Amino acid sequence: ERGGYPHFMLKEIHEQPRAVRDTLRGRVSDDLSRVELPELGLQDEDIRAIDRIHIVACGTSWHAGLVGKAAIEAFARIPVNVEIASEYRYSDPIVTDNTLVIAITQSGETADTLAAMREMKKRGVRVVAITNVVGSSAAREADSTIITWAGPEIAVASTKAYTTQLVALYLLAVRFGLSRGTLAEEKAREVLAALDNLPQVVEQVLDTAPQIESFAKRYKDAHDTFFIGRGIDYAVSLEGALKLKEISYIHAEAYAAGELKHGTLALITDGVPVIALAMQPELYEKTLSNIVEVKARGAFVLGLTWVGNEDLEKTVDEVIYLPKTMPLLAPVAAVIPLQLLAYYAAVARGNDVDKPRNLAKSVTVE
Ligand code: M6R
Repeated sequence: ERGGYPHFMLKEIHEQPRAVRDTLRGRVSDDLSRVELPELGLQDEDIRAIDRIHIVACGTSWHAGLVGKAAIEAFARIPVNVEIASEYRYSDPIVTDNTLVIAITQSGETADTLAAMREMKKRGVRVVAITNVVGSSAAREADSTIITWAGPEIAVASTKAYTTQLVALYLLAVRFGLSRGTLAEEKAREVLAALDNLPQVVEQVLDTAPQIESFAKRYKDAHDTFFIGRGIDYAVSLEGALKLKEISYIHAEAYAAGELKHGTLALITDGVPVIALAMQPELYEKTLSNIVEVKARGAFVLGLTWVGNEDLEKTVDEVIYLPKTMPLLAPVAAVIPLQLLAYYAAVARGNDVDKPRNLAKSVTVE
C-alpha cells in the first residue's frame, strides 16, 4: 500500500508530479489561453463584482493561502486577507455583499474551517471551498468546490495536498485576472505555460533528495533552526518550519528575512542552522544581505535558489539549486526540499514519521 516506500509521507512527496498534473488536467485550455473551472459557478460579471476575498484555513492549508493571496493580488488586483480559521470565526470579520470567502481544507473536515464557513454562509457571503476530499463536509456545504486531485493523503504531515492547493489557487488567480481584465492575455499564456510545466519541475526537484538526506543526517541533532525568506519565500518558510516541528520535533521558526534584526538575530549564534530561501530574483539582493547578517553571527546556512544563481555560493555553506520557474510559482518547487528535510530528519531521529506524537490527520475539535 505504500508502493514500495518505507513511509506514506515519502510516497506522497514523490507523488507530487502526478498530483500536480491531475489537478491541472482539463482546467487549462489546450492553447494555454484560458482556465476552465465551471465548478466555480461564477460568471465573468460575478468575478468582476468581487471587492475583497477572505481566505480561511488552518495549518498547511493556511500557508497555501498566503501564497494564494500573492497570486490573486498580482493577477486579479482584488485585496485578499488570509485568516487562521480559529481566529477568524471570533473576529467579527468585516464583509460586504461582494466578499468572497475561500476556505482551504485538505480533509474538508477541519472543525474551525467548517465553523468559519458556516458563519459566513449565515451572513450571506459566498463560500468557495478548495478541498481534496470529494463529498467532504466542506465540499457539501460550500456554494462551490474546487477539488484538488492529490489523491488520499495518509501521512499526518501534509505534502501533496499543499502543492495541489497552490495549483488550484494559481488557476483561480488567472481565471479572476482574465475575467477582470487585470491580467493581459499574453501574460496569462505565460503563466499557464509555466503551470503546465510544473510537473516536470517537481520531478527535477525530487532529484535533490540525496543531497537533502545527507544534510538532514548531519543536522538531526539541532535544537533550534530558522527558516528565512522574503515575500512568498517567507510563506514557504512558514511551511518548512511547521513540517520540521511536526515530524522531526526540532524547534523551528520562520522569519521574514528583513525582520530578523528586530530581535531574533540575538538567537543566531555559532553553528545555528539557517535555511535561507532565495527564490525571488527581485528580492535577491535584499535577502542576500540578511543572509550575510546571519553568517556574520556564525550561522550554518543552507541556501535554496534557482539554477544559475551561483552567486549564493559565495555567501552560504551549502546550496540547493532548483529549476527556474516563474517566481510566483516557485513555492511549488521550493517546498519540496523542505518536506524532504523534515522527512529525513525525522527518520534519522527514529520518529514515527507518518503518525507524529500528539497529532491527528484531521482536526475535528475546535
Ligand atoms: O484538512 P485541513 O487542510 O483543513 O487541515 C489543516 C491542518 O490541520 C493541516 O494542514 C496540518 O497543519 C498538517 N498536519 C500540517 O502538515
